Amino acid sequence: MSKLVSTAEFENLRKTLLDKTDPEAPCITICSGTGCHAYGCGKVSDAFKQEIKKKKLGRKVKVRTTGCHGFCERGPLVVIYPKKIFYQRVGVKDVPEVISETIMKGNLVERLLYVDPDTKEKIVYEDDVPFYKKQQRLIFGNNGIIDPTSIDDYLVAGGYTALAKVLNGMSSKEVISTVKEANLRGRGGGGFPAGVKWESCRNAEGDEKYVICNADEGDPGAYMDRSLLEGNPHSVLEGMIIGAYAIGSSQGYVYVRNEYPLAVSNLTVAIKQAEKYGLLGDNILGSGVSFKVYISKGGGAFVCGESSALTASLEGNVGEPKAKHIHTVVSGFKDKPTTINNVETWANVPLIIDKGAEWYKKIGTEGSKGTKIFSLVGKVNNTGLVEVPMGISLREIIYDIGGGVPGGKKFKAVQTGGPSGGCIPEEHLDLPVDFDRLYEVGSMMGSGGMIVMDERNCMVDVAKYFLNFLKDESCGKCTSCREGTERLHEIVTNITLGKGKESDIKLLEELGEVIVESSLCALGGTAPYPLLSTLRYFRDEYEAHIKDKRCPAGVCKELTTFLIVKEKCIGCGRCKVVCPSQAVTGAKKKLHKIVQKKCVKCGACYENCKFDAVKVK
Ligand SMILES: Cc1cc2nc3c(=O)[nH]c(=O)nc-3n(C[C@H](O)[C@H](O)[C@H](O)COP(=O)(O)O)c2cc1C
Ligand code: FES
Repeated sequence: MSKLVSTAEFENLRKTLLDKTDPEAPCITICSGTGCHAYGCGKVSDAFKQEIKKKKLGRKVKVRTTGCHGFCERGPLVVIYPKKIFYQRVGVKDVPEVISETIMKGNLVERLLYVDPDTKEKIVYEDDVPFYKKQQRLIFGNNGIIDPTSIDDYLVAGGYTALAKVLNGMSSKEVISTVKEANLRGRGGGGFPAGVKWESCRNAEGDEKYVICNADEGDPGAYMDRSLLEGNPHSVLEGMIIGAYAIGSSQGYVYVRNEYPLAVSNLTVAIKQAEKYGLLGDNILGSGVSFKVYISKGGGAFVCGESSALTASLEGNVGEPKAKHIHTVVSGFKDKPTTINNVETWANVPLIIDKGAEWYKKIGTEGSKGTKIFSLVGKVNNTGLVEVPMGISLREIIYDIGGGVPGGKKFKAVQTGGPSGGCIPEEHLDLPVDFDRLYEVGSMMGSGGMIVMDERNCMVDVAKYFLNFLKDESCGKCTSCREGTERLHEIVTNITLGKGKESDIKLLEELGEVIVESSLCALGGTAPYPLLSTLRYFRDEYEAHIKDKRCPAGVCKELTTFLIVKEKCIGCGRCKVVCPSQAVTGAKKKLHKIVQKKCVKCGACYENCKFDAVKVK
């Protein structure tokens, strides 16, 4: 294939590819995201390819490995087109039956279907699975359809048509005003309007300008950006090329952590393919516009996601932030005007250009348009990546999509915004999710981490977890962050050990506020937020730890004693079986007891008792 030298040639290629595609032809798609890889999807896809060959079905049935579908906990996932039959937890041994029954006879393999935990009903089609039903997968939808290593798949799905539209007559001003009009806000945390940033960069003086994709993604538990880069790298590249055209840049970087090998590998392939087709590199589609993209692998420090630390790291310097007297758009990478946007922000751009700002603005709330991808994890039945329209309530995400809290336990809080965010209690569950509303209740959107917690989570322990992460990740350049996070962690740790003083709560609040005010970058500037939000909503838990030397959730070991309630124990022996330290004694059908000396306070007896017979003292 030689380079395409005009938008007309591009259109011809797309037409040829579309003509060759039969949307009604059977196609077996196997998720090959990192999550499904961990479940052995590589062997499953090999088995499908071999079985298709063995049965001589190669001409009729396609096998395609795709990116992450989002419902990683059910992997390996297999979706069979055109009907979108949804099989989960598929193993190599299931493959011959899927071929002989579903592909050859049209019968379902019932045991591979998803069972709704509420209704116990088996669900056949992907779109009917509750996890997917309320999602609006504008950015993430193609992940499950295309092979990320095939540019042709991306073209068939409408890829690079936005770029062709731009090069076919849109001025850079028009591109910027479309993105501004759509009110695309940055998905990396701050929610800053992308179009405004682009315009400032366009207007900044400089012989060279840079475009950077921030794929550092250091928030614990977050993996939206990784999955997008792994599953649909061309959508991110296309956004970057359009951005580069708008800004007047000819060089760009994707800064991605080294722990994302599949993302790096698929992105490398995508860059080569786009260059080969003339969609990237010199003289793109014969337009005279040139743009090159390089990959830079980061060492995995959380602070390197911060824009000035990122540029320092990209320059080969220590990844430390700078005071932002001058904005990155004026002086960033190599002191040149630089636009940094998040992976998901870039992936929104082709959609906005393709469908128009008016269309995009119809999705979401007044101040937050479009969709947002969250990584829904923690104490929730369905964990995974969910893409929802802005404005959906937290309750809908956690209960309708996530299937609620497992084991009939009581919901306690949801943590959004990663280490810079806060814990939101039940009273705010009906809050519409958007940048501003989350901020109002003491949290933030962040890059999209969403951790659900139940009655068995101790909120003091949760604050300790985030402080521990942040004190370790603080680069140490400014005193208030370096020393402050250390001191906050020390005080909270003492509280969990039963050594807390009544004056600690005030001290934590005061110190937290000082750190917010005086830190050099937003790592320190937001580090106290998880702590402050737990103090705001769960103060009684701090008081119980300090005054009563008690951990109500039964998590802080020094403050917890598990006891068996005589009146409720039926001697089923379940607690004895799950106890890792043989601390439970008692004969079958007789009252059981916990030998306190042996108890390691893991809470397994408490978690597993079906009769509510284990209590936290
Ligand atoms: C400590 C820290 C870590 C950050 N990590 C990331 C990250 O991993 N990915 C990201 O896109 N933005 C991250 N940000 C935000 C970036 O500084 C920057 O605002 C963002 O990349 C801009 O892109 P956006 O406007 O598209 O969100 C981080 C900020 C801070 C303070
Ligand atoms: S990796 Fe397969 S669903 Fe996420």
